[in-house]
Amino acid sequence: MSGTTTENAMPSWETVLVEIVDGVAWVTLNRPGKRNAMNPQMNRDMVEVLDWLETDDRCRVLVLGGAGGNFSSGMDIKEYFRETDGKPPVVRDRAYRMAAEWQWRRLRAYAKPTIAMVNGWCFGGGFTPLIACDLALAAEDATFGLSEINWGIIPAGNVSKALASVVGGREALYFVMTGQTFDGVRAARMGLVNEAVPPAQLRDRALALARILMEKNPVVLRQAKTSFKNMGALDWELADEYLRAKQDQSRALDTDGGRGTAMEQFLDEKSFRPGLENYRRPE
Ligand code: COA
Repeated sequence: MSGTTTENAMPSWETVLVEIVDGVAWVTLNRPGKRNAMNPQMNRDMVEVLDWLETDDRCRVLVLGGAGGNFSSGMDIKEYFRETDGKPPVVRDRAYRMAAEWQWRRLRAYAKPTIAMVNGWCFGGGFTPLIACDLALAAEDATFGLSEINWGIIPAGNVSKALASVVGGREALYFVMTGQTFDGVRAARMGLVNEAVPPAQLRDRALALARILMEKNPVVLRQAKTSFKNMGALDWELADEYLRAKQDQSRALDTDGGRGTAMEQFLDEKSFRPGLENYRRPE
């Protein structure tokens, strides 16, 4: 199924559940019997889900999790790897493109804030969407593993690139090269996720974080995260120029007039302190 407008009833998808409650879209990878392995159908579904939610005004923050107590066991070794082996390159390319499309290309640049919520297993290809989300939370007892080395492949599917963007070389290489597992507490310590929380608190913590993000000016939030994500590719001069241009773009697109409103509230009314809270957005 596919859809494009907020007015339409939301479709359902074969391998992904979507529930929107009070601004938060809870997107759940849903192949629990396969530990939410990402097969071609799921990759197709997720492209459509991301498209749908980007234009659905009811969704203000997207939280990505998995059904059945696990995030994802990574790429589907049967349907994504074995069943495309020996097929014409165009078939494999197509399967790859669909996976890449949602797992990092769209998620990294997503118009709305995204939070990955990891519990249970998270292996291999599962790292790519996890890292492509803006923020990430894990259950303390979640189990992460770069298992590729254990079955004779390298962490491709942009897993290595994603990993290098958040985790330092020593720690990343240790797990890339040993294939050993680690828990949510370690994942937080190495910067793979923002926080590890007791498993029973995972959803509540994701909701609390989503609520903080929903208080912010959505136009500025998008420009801020996109700018940060693109910094790594630029030297200081280009970064400065790019950020100034983004700043102008942000003000031009901001229908709240947030900057001016915030300055009035701080400098004239003295009714808020930007160091400590968000300005009051217009209703
Ligand atoms: N691809 C395809 N199928 C997978 C899968 C994957 N990545 N991960 C799990 N499955 C399937 C299993 O084949 C099994 O299918 P079946 O019920 O038809 O036999 C089912 O999911 C349950 O798996 P099982 O191994 O019995 O569950 P478990 O809870 O004991 O172990 C894992 C879970 C994730 C530790 C284990 O399945 C595993 O190692 N999976 C591969 C992880 C991996 O290397 N992923 C990287 C891919 S890039």
